[in-house]
Amino acid sequence: MKKGFWGLPGTLMLLAAIFAAGHACTKNSDTLKPGSDEYREAENSYWHYCASCHGRDGKGHGMMASTAPIPPRDHTDPAVIGRRSDEELFKIIKDGGEAAGLDAAMPPHKTLLKDEEIRGVVKYLRNLCNCKYAAR
Ligand code: HEC
Repeated sequence: MKKGFWGLPGTLMLLAAIFAAGHACTKNSDTLKPGSDEYREAENSYWHYCASCHGRDGKGHGMMASTAPIPPRDHTDPAVIGRRSDEELFKIIKDGGEAAGLDAAMPPHKTLLKDEEIRGVVKYLRNLCNCKYAAR
């Protein structure tokens, strides 16, 4: 292992991992409190980067939806979002559909959104579907 790996970023990652592990049994599925700053920030990200395809209401009928080769998913549908863990949703948003075995029409957002912003959007998706992760 390279010296210095466990610097401050490493320590923070370790703490985050321990924190996440404590919540792993529920696969997270946390929602945001409507009206809170966190909620407004995530909603903003969503309207900025997702609504063009998935629609402002998340139902998949954004302005660009018809240009995608397959329909953008309905984020209000528990059958769609409920079968994904927070980690899966995070990966789909960060690395795009293709990296997760879905269509490449779902673009990666790693250069557009910071990890913590993506985490907020994942929670916002739980608000939209009003659903938790249901194991397949
Ligand atoms: C350019 C259009 C476009 C944009 C912008 C876009 N998506 Fe998508 N998204 C799609 C399409 C098309 C699919 C369907 C891919 C498939 O099922 O193979 C999809 C699928 C998804 C899925 C997978 C749902 C499932 O089947 O489990 C998630 C989650 C998702 N999008 C979230 C987002 C979020 C969050 C954003 C904004 C940060 C976003 N998308 C932005 C087009 C888009």
